[in-house]
This record gives sequence, structure tokens and C-alpha cells, in this order.
Amino acid sequence: MTAQGSEPRQPERPLTIVVTGGNTGIGAAIVAAFARAGGNVAMDFVSNRDANAAIVADAADAGGRVVPVDADITAQAGLERIRDAALEAFGRIDVWVNNAGLETRHSLLETSEADFDRVIAVDLKATFFGTQVAARQFLAQGGPGVVVNVSSVHEDWPMPGNTTYCVAKGGVRMLTRTAGVELGGHGIRVVNVAPGAVDTPINTATMADPDQRARLTDAIPLHAVATPEQIADVVVFAASPQAAYMTATTIVVDGGIMQGSVGL
Ligand code: BGC
Repeated sequence: MTAQGSEPRQPERPLTIVVTGGNTGIGAAIVAAFARAGGNVAMDFVSNRDANAAIVADAADAGGRVVPVDADITAQAGLERIRDAALEAFGRIDVWVNNAGLETRHSLLETSEADFDRVIAVDLKATFFGTQVAARQFLAQGGPGVVVNVSSVHEDWPMPGNTTYCVAKGGVRMLTRTAGVELGGHGIRVVNVAPGAVDTPINTATMADPDQRARLTDAIPLHAVATPEQIADVVVFAASPQAAYMTATTIVVDGGIMQGSVGL
């Protein structure tokens, strides 16, 4: 991270960042990016726990620290558990990234109640209460803070066949706007980063099918899906002092897919 565009910024103390879903996909890239900036990171893990040791070691090599926490983010108590682990390890929290997300790719007509509950719990409920836990902690610290939500272009853009995901991300869009307005007076910023198509496990099926992959790539004006690192860089920016005047809004990082058209 740089101040005024050129000089390396040397923070007086390392920042502490919580990243949900930090051991896979975009989350792992976010953890690595903050670690490279010298940050202290606490991340939950539910699955993919075999990845933790390498993430911790890579972060240490890059000059950061990562504490993995066994916590269920779909329960408020699980989010408080990550908060407590971060406080125990690092003493305070500066940035909270609600990144964890999943999709089940079902249309309205196909969606089961269990599917709906799962997607809403991970994508919307965990983001809502993660924002609440973070904001309460920032207030308790008497200082500012930043919440970055990893939403999706589908916070605003219908994706037929992925209905609950769109509903959840639409909720995250409105959560960010409302919470940003409510918390602005406390110096707390809330910003969404909305990726388009990214090469992560959520898109494994699409990326593995050459036809689907070609169709997706053709629909993107920049003719490539994003790397997780390209999204992580924007998350780090949204959390940084360079984005100090941004709140209650969304930064779209989609290679132009939402504006694109296959044309005539
Ligand atoms: C979804 C992907 C989709 C992409 C672009 C993402 O939020 O998770 O399934 O390919 O948006 O439409």
C-alpha cells in the first residue's frame, strides 16, 4: 500500500483484519494480500482446513500473521468467536471483510427450503451479523473501522437459475447502503466489492467445461475471468485510507460484464 501514490506507507502498527471464508478462493487471496501489507489476519474455516498451514506459513514469509479460527459464521456466536480470537491474538480489529459466500444454482421453481436457508445463512445472515459484530467492536475501541463486503455483480443483476444467491446479494447491497448511512457518523465505513466471474471453486464447473468457459469469456468485455488476486487488490484498496471517502456504496470489479452485450 502506498501513500500519495509513491512512498511506501509504514503504518505505526500492523492493522488487524478479519476475513470470513479466508482459506479458499477470493478469501485466500484477500488474506495473502493483507499479509503482504504486513497485516494481522484472523480467518474462520469450516471446510478446506488442510489449506490452513500453508496459508499461515505463506503469510509469515510475506511479513504478516494469520490465525485460523474454527467458527461457524452462520451463527452470531461463531462471528463473536472470530472477534474474540482476533482480539486475543492482536488486541484490536481495524477491518472486517465479510467474504464467505456460496451458491447452489437453482431457479426459483427448483429451490428447496434447505437450499434457500443455506445460501441466505452464509451469504446474507453472516454478512449482516459480521457487520454488526465488527461495528460494535469498532465502537467499543472508540475508533474508526472499515467493513468490506464481498458481494457480486448479482447484487444488482439478475442471474436466472441462481435465484437465492441473487436475493442474498441484493440484500448485501442494501445492507451496505443502510449500515453505511447508520454508521457514518461513527467514522465507520461500509463498502461492497462486487466481483464478476472469478476463477475460484464457486465457478469450477463453468471453468472445466470448454463451451461454458468460452461463452462466459466472450460475454466479458475484457475477455477474461478475474483472478482472485485482482479482486483482493480492490478489497485492500477499499479498506485503505486511499478509500477514506467511500462508504455505503459498491465498487464493481467485473471486467465490464454487466455493461457488455453480445450485440448483433
Ligand atoms: C457468481 C458466478 C457467476 C459470476 C458472473 C458470480 O457472483 O458466483 O457463478 O459466474 O458472478 O455472472
